[in-house]
Amino acid sequence: MSAITTRELVEIDERRLLRRLDDLAQRGALPQGGIYRPLYSPQWTSAMELVATWMKDAGLLVRRDPVGNMWGRIEGSRGGRVIATGSHIDTVRGGGALDGALGVVAGIEAVSSLWQRFGRSTRILECVAICEEEGSRFNTNFWGARAIADRLEPGEADRVRDADGVSLGDAMRGVGLDPAAAATAVRRDLDVFVELHVEQGPILEDHGPRLGVVTTIAGTAHLEITVRGQPDHAGAMAMDRRRDAFLGASAMALGIAEAAVRMGHPAVATVGTIVVEPSQVNVVPGLAKFTVDTRHPDPARRGELITQIGDLSKKIASERNLGVEIKTLRDRPPVNLSPRVGDVLRRAAVTAGIEPREMTSGAGHDAQVLTAAANAGMLFVPSIGGRSHCPEEATAAEDVVLGTRVLATALRELAYQT
Ligand code: GLV
Ligand code: MN
Ligand code: MN
Repeated sequence: MSAITTRELVEIDERRLLRRLDDLAQRGALPQGGIYRPLYSPQWTSAMELVATWMKDAGLLVRRDPVGNMWGRIEGSRGGRVIATGSHIDTVRGGGALDGALGVVAGIEAVSSLWQRFGRSTRILECVAICEEEGSRFNTNFWGARAIADRLEPGEADRVRDADGVSLGDAMRGVGLDPAAAATAVRRDLDVFVELHVEQGPILEDHGPRLGVVTTIAGTAHLEITVRGQPDHAGAMAMDRRRDAFLGASAMALGIAEAAVRMGHPAVATVGTIVVEPSQVNVVPGLAKFTVDTRHPDPARRGELITQIGDLSKKIASERNLGVEIKTLRDRPPVNLSPRVGDVLRRAAVTAGIEPREMTSGAGHDAQVLTAAANAGMLFVPSIGGRSHCPEEATAAEDVVLGTRVLATALRELAYQT
C-alpha cells in the first residue's frame, strides 16, 4: 500500500460547515448566553438528532451505539481497520459553540467532502459524535470515549448520579438506551482517531502559527478538600475565637494557586466549586468543601504539585485549628498521542503552507482516552483571546475552515491509500 502523494489541500463546503456550527449552537442555547447540553438531556438528544441528519444527508451509514455515541460510516473498498474522526457533543454549563462541536461538525464535513470528491475510500472511514466528555452532568467524564476504549467501570451506570439524584443508568433508559449493554459499545477495530479541536488557550493566537499538532495531553487530578470548623453566631462570637471553615478554605485556595504559579507554566490549579455549611448570612461557616483541578503534562511535576497542595492545606488547617480531609476524585495521567498520526497532520498542515506548532494540551480530550483503542492524534486551531468553557468561546471563520480542510487532507492520506 502506498500513501496518497498528491499534496493538495482538500476542498470543503465552507458555508455548510459554518452554517451547521451555528445551527448546532442553537441546541441547548441558554437565554442568558452560552450553551448547555448535558448528557442524555432533551438538548443533547436534539443535537444528536441534528448530527444524525447531517450524517444521513452525506450518504453515511448511521448508527447509534449502546451509550449513544453517533457513528457515520463509509465502507472502504478494502475493509481493514477503521480511520475515525470526531469529538464530543456535550458541553459545560454556559459553554461555547466550538468545544467538541467543531470536531463533530468538521469531521462530518471532512468525510462528506471526501466522499463527494473522491468517492469510496479504500479504508473504512467513520465520523463520530461522542456522547459525553465534559463531566458536567454526572460525576464522571469521558463516558463515551471510555465506552469505546473498554474503560467503563463495573456498575458505573448505577452508581453515578447527577445533582438531582438521577442515575446515569436511568438517564440512559430515558433516551432509549439500555445501561446493561453499555460495555458493548467497545470498538476493537479502530486504527486511527483524529480530533480537530479549538486550542482553548492563547498560545496559537499569541505566538502563531494558525495550526497546532498535539503531542501530549496533560494529566488531570481532581481533589475534594473538606475543611471542618465550628458553626457559631455571626454577631456574638468574637473574631479571635472562631474556627471559620470558609476562611481556612480561602487561605488554602490562595496557597494552591500560588503553588501552581511558583511551579511555573504549564502547571495549573483551579478551585472551581465551593460549598459552605450551613450557608446562612448570620452563621460562621462550620464546614467548607471545595474542589481542585490540577494539571501538568509531566507526571513527576504533577505529583509534586499534588503533594504541595496536601501539605499546605494541612498546615493552614492546623494553624487555624480546623480539620481537613483530602479525597482524590479523579486522577488521569498525562497521555502521549501517536507520533504517526501527528506526522500525517503535520504533512497536511504543510500542504496549507503552515508548519504547525507542536504543543501540549492543558485541556482534556476524547483523544487521550482513545489512545487505548486507536492511534490517536489532535489538530488545534486558535481560540480568540484564548477563551473557552464560556459563551465568548470563538475561532475566526477562516481558521475553522483551514482546520477542517487540513483534517480532510489528513483523512485523505489515511483512508485513500492505493
Ligand atoms: C474538559 O474540557 C477538561 O479539560 O476538563
Ligand atoms: Mn472538548
Ligand atoms: Mn471542554
